[in-house]
Amino acid sequence: MNTIKDIIDKPIFTKEELILLLSSEKEDKQLIFSKATEIKAEYVGRKVYFRGLIEFSNKCRKNCFYCGIRAGNNIINRYEVSEEEVIDAVKYAYENNYGSIVLQAGERNDRQFVETISNILKKIKKIANGKLGITLSLGEQTEKTYRKWMENGAHRYLLRIETSNPDLYKKLHPDDDGHRFEIRLECLQLLKKIGYQVGTGVMIGLPFQTIEHLADDLLFFKEFDVDMVGMGPYIEHEQTPLYQYKDQLINKTNRFNLSLKMIAILRIMMKDINIAATTAMQTLDPAGREKALKVGANIIMPNLTPVKYRENYLLYEDKPCIDEEASECKNCLEARIKIAGDEIGYGEWGDSKHFANKK
Ligand code: 5AD
Ligand code: SF4
Ligand code: FES
Repeated sequence: MNTIKDIIDKPIFTKEELILLLSSEKEDKQLIFSKATEIKAEYVGRKVYFRGLIEFSNKCRKNCFYCGIRAGNNIINRYEVSEEEVIDAVKYAYENNYGSIVLQAGERNDRQFVETISNILKKIKKIANGKLGITLSLGEQTEKTYRKWMENGAHRYLLRIETSNPDLYKKLHPDDDGHRFEIRLECLQLLKKIGYQVGTGVMIGLPFQTIEHLADDLLFFKEFDVDMVGMGPYIEHEQTPLYQYKDQLINKTNRFNLSLKMIAILRIMMKDINIAATTAMQTLDPAGREKALKVGANIIMPNLTPVKYRENYLLYEDKPCIDEEASECKNCLEARIKIAGDEIGYGEWGDSKHFANKK
């Protein structure tokens, strides 16, 4: 039988090998982590790029069973950050050399929303003299909308597949036309065709999810040939339908460790993509983001949402940085990145090298 050491040096992994890697513990796990650290240094370097995150609005037309801001949650206050506040956040990112910003919101596709985003994009381009990279994370949209936003200045798009298994997807979403796996996949394909750098991702430790599913998720990223991945642990939220399965979940330590392994294995599989050290990692471990950086992640998203809105953008419980001003997160992350032994790529877009290498 192959040892972990033999497997990690192979050019491609089979599903069976991925399952072995994902199940590894102790020295075997450390071998995977060291290999991922090496590959990160060699292929993307030890620079971490900032994506200043603006959680533009928590209004959402969807009802994903895991998410705290789902339309059916009528306990939270719904908000939309004013254009002026978005501009202030963008100025902060620009003045502090963040390199890029991410505009994220619950999913909406009404005309007014599409127009508002277009206008904001044009303003961002102007204010930052075209120097800030712009990523959108605004869910499923029509081809026309995706194209329009690209013309207005966006060049990266994040749309997590959440799970690459259609049956599991069904268990996590209402069974209606607003929540179809096939449509999500089509959107990802559209984004690629249009020319965005495309990011996707999954949640780890979901109810009903198995190691086999996670192995398939890794194969999905490879097969789709994604440019960026953001993934992290699933964290239960009391005001959601999936909360009823909270006692069936793997414990938080194991969920965190599994997430770290997913990041490290993905780095070994896809050497030159961008991988985010997600905020959810920090929810389960105070040093979660640093640990993610150590085993292969190279992107961090400091929160730039005005503090007064943050408590209403809780997709999951115990989300960090609810009261911290942008400058506090900046200092905090600078320290964390230093601890991880990396440096910050200030003033650089930090585009996915994979995207450039594909051309
Ligand atoms: N736990 C972890 N991640 C979550 N997301 C939504 N709800 C949760 C949760 N309960 C993630 C989804 C979505 C992203 C914006 O946040 O993967 O795509
Ligand atoms: Fe809306 Fe996204 Fe939450 Fe689903 S995960 S309910 S689309 S904000
Ligand atoms: Fe926000 Fe640490 S990143 S306080």
